[in-house]
Amino acid sequence: MANQPQSLDRRALVPLCIFLGTLLTFGTGQIRYSVPEETDKGFFVGNISKDLGLEPWEVAERGVRIVSRGEMQLFALNPRGGSLVTAGRIDREELCDTLPSCLLNLEILVEDTLKIYGVEVEIMDINDNAPSFQEEEVEIKVSEHTSPGSRFPLPSARDPDAGMNSLQSYQLSPSSYFSLVVRGGTDGDKNPELVLEEGLDREKETSHHLLLTALDGGDPIRKGTVPIRVVVLDVNDHIPKFTQSVYRVSIPENLSSGTRVLMVNATDPDEGINGEVVYSFRKKKSKASEIFQLNSQTGEVLVGKPLDFEKYRFYEMEIQGQDGGGLLSTTTLMITVTDVNDNTPEITITSSINSVPENSPSGTVIALLNVQDQDSGENGQVTCFIPNGLPFKLEKTYGNYYKLITNSELDREQVESYNITLTAKDEGSPPLSTETHLLLKVADANDNPPVFTHPAYSAYIPENNPRGSSIFSVTAIDRDSRENAQVTYSLAEDTIQGTPLSSFVSINSDTGVLYALQSFDYEQFQIPTAGSDC
Ligand SMILES: *[C@@H]1O[C@H](CO)[C@@H](O)[C@H](O)[C@H]1NC(C)=O
Ligand SMILES: *[C@@H]1O[C@H](CO)[C@@H](O)[C@H](O)[C@H]1NC(C)=O
Repeated sequence: MANQPQSLDRRALVPLCIFLGTLLTFGTGQIRYSVPEETDKGFFVGNISKDLGLEPWEVAERGVRIVSRGEMQLFALNPRGGSLVTAGRIDREELCDTLPSCLLNLEILVEDTLKIYGVEVEIMDINDNAPSFQEEEVEIKVSEHTSPGSRFPLPSARDPDAGMNSLQSYQLSPSSYFSLVVRGGTDGDKNPELVLEEGLDREKETSHHLLLTALDGGDPIRKGTVPIRVVVLDVNDHIPKFTQSVYRVSIPENLSSGTRVLMVNATDPDEGINGEVVYSFRKKKSKASEIFQLNSQTGEVLVGKPLDFEKYRFYEMEIQGQDGGGLLSTTTLMITVTDVNDNTPEITITSSINSVPENSPSGTVIALLNVQDQDSGENGQVTCFIPNGLPFKLEKTYGNYYKLITNSELDREQVESYNITLTAKDEGSPPLSTETHLLLKVADANDNPPVFTHPAYSAYIPENNPRGSSIFSVTAIDRDSRENAQVTYSLAEDTIQGTPLSSFVSINSDTGVLYALQSFDYEQFQIPTAGSDC
């Protein structure tokens, strides 16, 4: 590629040289060559002998040489061929940096005539440098609320090559958020800039990775890249959000203090303190906040004080979650307390008698009682009963009222008193029960006649007994009590041989002792006196 312009130059120079040949001898003309940079030492630059109108052998003969001005020699004369060649590798960028054309001048002296010829050599650029960036990586911080259209400067690349071989354009890796513009600077520099195309959301993507490429126009094109990391800075643009708008939980009333009820949870996708949620009760003083404790950091709700289903069975509270930037939201917590069988049934004897006559009819009311249980549901369902085998029964009257009544007639002579055990039992699991005792006396009725110890008595007494002597005694027993059991004795009306019985014997009404009122004569009474029933 570098040879083409050279050969073109030479073709253009050949006719000129014939004409200039004379001019050159006056030192006014100039020979021009061009050579690509970065060639190996000895690369052919131009045919000096020919251009000076000399035969190749004359070059040495006539002392043609390059005038040295003490600089490093870039070129040399080939004494036999009479051509100008490179003396080493030439780096155009080292000599001319970014100048658009790189021209080197040298003088050729023909010693025998002492003529000086100027030679201008253009060092042709080859695309030996790729554009490059100084930075290894670029970080750009953009707040997530920056409006689209905003621009952010990007680093420029450098390419020391010239013309098309130098930096021509920039490219950005595809991104839906960013595009690239290249602004021409006053010095002709190209300044790339990043343009925000679409609103950023840190919570969606915290950073964006782009690649900026600088390209030159050589063939082939050479390029240099630098990674661009766009860091999205947080704005407190999210309200803490509870995982549920209402939390419901059911807990038994016997949970002990310190037990965890549940955990509320609000999330906030913002960064740092903008995303740190602190929990609190919305109402600082409420029934619920007295009973329950809330961990402000974790959202854990604990039982603080004993619960009692019989007092409060439902709590509703508002909990708020606030982030470090002051944004807050609320949730509702509903706690239902469920009953535990923690109350024993109670028996209240509303009225009772402590004694009942034994001949009272079956169904006589002994007591009226009431049973209660503070628990609810099955835990509060109470049944009341008495042991089997008693002459009583319990009858349900109204609500939780029971009547204790007799079930049959009572007999004091069999059972004088009853110690009745009343039991009330609920249907909880396990059931709770209570007992109470009712003491009942059976009052006596005179329902038993006195009964003699024998159906008949017989006694023998000697005749001629003294009058008034006790001759016998009888006993009758009565099973009733007290006065109903007090027996008085008397003789039934009767006659013996026409004489009333009462003129022969008498009986002590209290003791049942019989006394003779006469002295008996065997010959008169042979048949026993007490032969008949009393
Ligand atoms: C809160 O909820 C979020 C989203 O469901 C979850 O990732 C996080 O682990 C929860 N935090 C706690 C402490 O349970
Ligand atoms: C009734 O019986 C219960 C248990 O059987 C007993 O504890 C109580 O002392 C008795 N009452 C009387 C007055 O005897």
